Amino acid sequence: MPDITRVGVCGCGLMGAGIAQVAATAGFNVVSYENDAHALERGRARIQQSLAKFVEKGSLSRADADAAIGRLRFTTTFDDLRECDLVIEAIVENPVAKKDLFARLDALLAPHALICTNTSSLCVMEMAAVTKRPTQVAGLHFFNPVPIMKLVEVVKTIVTSQATLDTLLAFARTLGKKAILAQDTPGFIVNRLLVPYLLYAIRMYEAGLASKEDIDEGMKLGCGHPMGPLTLLDFVGLDTTYYIAQIMFDEFKDPLMAPPPLLKRMVLAGHLGVKSGKGFYDYPSQPHSQSGSGAGTRT
Ligand code: 3HC
Repeated sequence: MPDITRVGVCGCGLMGAGIAQVAATAGFNVVSYENDAHALERGRARIQQSLAKFVEKGSLSRADADAAIGRLRFTTTFDDLRECDLVIEAIVENPVAKKDLFARLDALLAPHALICTNTSSLCVMEMAAVTKRPTQVAGLHFFNPVPIMKLVEVVKTIVTSQATLDTLLAFARTLGKKAILAQDTPGFIVNRLLVPYLLYAIRMYEAGLASKEDIDEGMKLGCGHPMGPLTLLDFVGLDTTYYIAQIMFDEFKDPLMAPPPLLKRMVLAGHLGVKSGKGFYDYPSQPHSQSGSGAGTRT
């Protein structure tokens, strides 16, 4: 397995931009591909703002931030990914779109290249199966905000090779992340525990057992969590959580994974959390969206 020098990231939303940023900061040449030019520009701005924050805090020098920006190439041309040794997909959580992208990447990339997905919930094997290199396909699941969160789940399908896993574990370490090895089951390790917890917080609130503020304070001050569950739901996106919960419930039929009625209604109302300006709490500085949909969620 050759070394990774050039990394491609497909999708320049919240997660894709974060992944491109940490890879460029770690010294990789990065091709950030996004088919929507406006989304690409938003992603570029997000990366610049995040790097500026690190410079402001003194944890990154101006020169290193500039060097990271210099290693990033933003493009809407799919063919620009051709020379990549590793491509990480972070597009919409839509299995049809992801499988289509995997097939196109498989046709474009050199035989040695690895293809990974940042999916939080979909079956990685389903994506591997549309390629002619299934042993070189795995999950690389990052956490939001990617530049801050220290964890990456390396997700092994039943056919991912040990050489692929070794390369990805080393890659994650080079990014400054702690990698943990997960199996290709819905929710992997973290969301398998986190999602039922978040859903239970909604059920408690829905049942009137406590105020949203008290539920959040309880978990922050009682358990040392940086955010309470309802704040975290707003941060992650209610549509994203709803989508993940549906996939986990479909697979396991565990009632703890079933989306609560309130979550579905908030998503239908467009109350998606921070990104829409309203969720369990209000975010007046964010744009308010009138429509919400579980489909089209970005990982
Ligand atoms: N880039 C650079 N710096 C950033 C940043 C970014 N994108 N986001 C936050 N920061 C920095 C801030 O500048 C600040 O730095 P300072 O402490 O030196 O001043 C520091 O991070 C803390 O940020 P804030 O002061 O704004 O706010 P908080 O102290 O509340 O921290 C947080 C924000 C890091 C998001 C923290 O609240 C947290 O860890 N929350 C939990 C996040 C979490 O659980 N994420 C996982 C979600 S699940 C997931 O992603 C899986 C998916 O599949 C659903």
